[in-house]
Amino acid sequence: MQRALPDLTITPPVAGEKVTLVLHADGKQYDLPVLGGTHGPKVIDVRRLYAETGYFTYDPGFLSTANCDSAITYIDGDRGILLHRGYPIEELAAHADFLEVCYLLLYGKLPTPSELADFGYVIGHHSMVHEQFKRFFAGFRRDAHPMAVMVGTVGALSAFYHDKIDITDPEARMVSTHRLIAKMPTICAMAFKYSLGRPFMYPRNDLSYAANFLRMAFGIPAEPYVVNPVLTRAINRFLVLHADHEQNASTATVRIAGSSRANPYACVAAGITALWGPDHGGANEAVVNMLEEIGNKDRIPLYIKRAKDKNDSFRLTGFGHRVYKNYDPRAAILRESCHEVLAELGKTDEPLFALALELERIALDDDYFVQRKLFPNVDFYSGIMLRAIGFPTAMFPPLFALGRTIGWIAQWKEMIEASDQHIARPRQRYIGEAIRPYVPIAER
Ligand code: CMC
Repeated sequence: MQRALPDLTITPPVAGEKVTLVLHADGKQYDLPVLGGTHGPKVIDVRRLYAETGYFTYDPGFLSTANCDSAITYIDGDRGILLHRGYPIEELAAHADFLEVCYLLLYGKLPTPSELADFGYVIGHHSMVHEQFKRFFAGFRRDAHPMAVMVGTVGALSAFYHDKIDITDPEARMVSTHRLIAKMPTICAMAFKYSLGRPFMYPRNDLSYAANFLRMAFGIPAEPYVVNPVLTRAINRFLVLHADHEQNASTATVRIAGSSRANPYACVAAGITALWGPDHGGANEAVVNMLEEIGNKDRIPLYIKRAKDKNDSFRLTGFGHRVYKNYDPRAAILRESCHEVLAELGKTDEPLFALALELERIALDDDYFVQRKLFPNVDFYSGIMLRAIGFPTAMFPPLFALGRTIGWIAQWKEMIEASDQHIARPRQRYIGEAIRPYVPIAER
């Protein structure tokens, strides 16, 4: 049965609409064009502002600045709505295989059964890595953070697959894209196996993307691996929920790196680097560490108090979001996934999950969080689910990177193929020393 869709305002292209800027300093007025999109706020086009007025705009952290046109993902943060190519995330998470979502993000439409079969065949064809590639891992300390290993090894793909690295060639772009989607689970699982000192597992192309990844992560060569459908569904859903999130820090990083025409492997490695931080993809790891530090329900008020104290650097990780000023729809789905996974594994009394639910209840009842519209984000529940499945906390950000690779590469491709692509080069407000003469060392 078709679910009723939320009623989103359509913002059509605006004919002739302008915003008038009055510069009191010189008493002049400038008309700035206004652009419409499909949904979301209209956009004031300031591209000619500097040439015409001699002024820059100032917007650290891009609080009000659109960096690009994109047709991939839309978020209505006030209402907690997330769409990929127009499809609500709840529907994709409930029904779609991750490869279907990859196809959707890349090509803009849901695949037919034969298109999906062909796409799966192509991805399967690229799922192994060059045998020599394994030697890279040996260069890392075995206790290296797997994100460090991911940054290095994904960047190194450009050294192995430079036959198709000419980004001006559409066919080469597509092959690199397929290689990244296909090899990422293999590399992510290898990073995990390396940290455990266990043998790498080759991919199995007869399994789904999620099942193949779970087998490469938890299987051993000495025994057959039995696919668990509940855990496979949970990982598939996790990947779908992390697939893209419009212009977040890591995606913006991939676009900025790619704007210099760097190769896609280097750009995705840059994305992994940006994702690693605890305010972005490292938050899932930080949430579990925080819950462990809190320890028990009696200590929640102390940590809520600390989170509100401006003199204390502690923040409630997994809460708050630049765009969502409502419940992150992904967090609600992952909370359900936690229930399913914990029930399947006979861990319904998992203390960390009970603690997280109680922390959410208390925070959402607290004026500080209510007034600032701070709700659980995608990272609040994902770590609990991943830990129950058997991943250590250090593997949470690599799993985020695994899901987000399709978003990065779809956005990279969209940028490269845009008609008005320029190298990204922000301006600045210079607040350093005024010009002054060099002082010879003997006179200082
Ligand atoms: N705990 C306590 N206070 C918070 C929190 C929090 N988690 N998040 C925001 N605030 C406060 C903040 O101090 C500020 O208060 P005031 O107005 O009194 O100065 C207000 O809420 C607005 O916050 P902000 O820092 O201006 O918001 P931002 O959009 O710059 O930051 C954020 C967004 C996600 C970095 C921030 O909410 C945060 O640090 N959250 C914890 C880390 C986290 O969970 N990150 C994962 C984000 S979602 C997944 C992803 O994108 O990868």
